[in-house]
Amino acid sequence: MLGTGEAGVLLGETGLDVPLGNGETVYFNYYWLRDNCPSSFDSETRERVYDIFAEAEAPRATSALIAADHLEVTWAGSGHVTRIPLQMLNCYATGSKRPDTANLSRKAWYADHYKNIGRFSYEGLTTDKAHIKKWVETMLTAGVALLTGLPDTDDALLDTANLIGHIRPSYFGRVFEVKTHIKPTNLAFTSKALELHTDLPSEDTAPGVQFLHCRANSVDGGNSLFVDGLAVAEDFRKSHPQEFELLVSTDIPYYCEHDTFDMRARQRVIELDEYGNISGVTISQHQADIFDLPQRELDLYYPAFCRFGRLMQHEKYLMKFRLNAGECIVFDNHRIVHGRAAYSATSGDRHLRGCYIDRGEMRSTYRVLSGEGRFK
Ligand SMILES: [Fe+2]
Repeated sequence: MLGTGEAGVLLGETGLDVPLGNGETVYFNYYWLRDNCPSSFDSETRERVYDIFAEAEAPRATSALIAADHLEVTWAGSGHVTRIPLQMLNCYATGSKRPDTANLSRKAWYADHYKNIGRFSYEGLTTDKAHIKKWVETMLTAGVALLTGLPDTDDALLDTANLIGHIRPSYFGRVFEVKTHIKPTNLAFTSKALELHTDLPSEDTAPGVQFLHCRANSVDGGNSLFVDGLAVAEDFRKSHPQEFELLVSTDIPYYCEHDTFDMRARQRVIELDEYGNISGVTISQHQADIFDLPQRELDLYYPAFCRFGRLMQHEKYLMKFRLNAGECIVFDNHRIVHGRAAYSATSGDRHLRGCYIDRGEMRSTYRVLSGEGRFK
């Protein structure tokens, strides 16, 4: 049964229509209105403490009106009154996603990016939060940044990573040391060339942001190779749209097996974000498992996979540089593809100390530093 509340609010069976100005009325569902009553949230923890599962009946308004800049709804049964700011109703009127300060447009980069790479000093980052915000902004838009002036200590890496998130261990532990190992469990721990890859796709969720602190690099060779997977995927989408769709929609198996672990997971080579934009890539030939897709599907998949892999190696995309002692390269492991030229292990020392954090925590840091939040 329909009814008319005061000030033009129209009550319906499942929700109500509210005039929100400009002569427009907007529909809001009763469950949504009751669940998001400001009294549903604890002011200390900021979490929802109202339990909508405990309601035996569907929420129904007995009256509703606009008072000043609020919608006031009185509920059947409990008589509870909900007062919701019209500003909040405006935010959710169209059903579009909640705005997010951390959802910055990604900017593709190419081989010549090294001279423009975002550079941030350890001293600046540890003394001024504005530097941290700028650094994270660079990570969200370009996916890579170069930090300089790190002390030559074990803690420098952890202290730096902790500025924007918590260390996120992998099956190699909290940190890893990239240098020649006596009994290597990974190609990175040898002096061989390391083909372009993203790290650890054999984990359910591959690590989000990677830090590599260069402690020493006096060897011949061993230059760092970095590619913006987003730039490659954007070009691939234009040149081979059907193959692009295959790489976006097909899960392929990855593995990492040694004496004490047997990691396996499935990933898509090209990743889209929740808005359908390309967010990056997950690719690693040395962790790709034997493809267990139907052989006829592989007739299409392999050519697409190889075409994309070859495109990724094109000079157009390849940023080559030497990582120096005291520098730390930080990059989005779901977007930036990295590798290394071979080096002569007897020509000097090469030691990188690495760790990961999650991307969600980095975005969280950015929102906090931007002063965003519903409870501000
Ligand atoms: Fe790696």
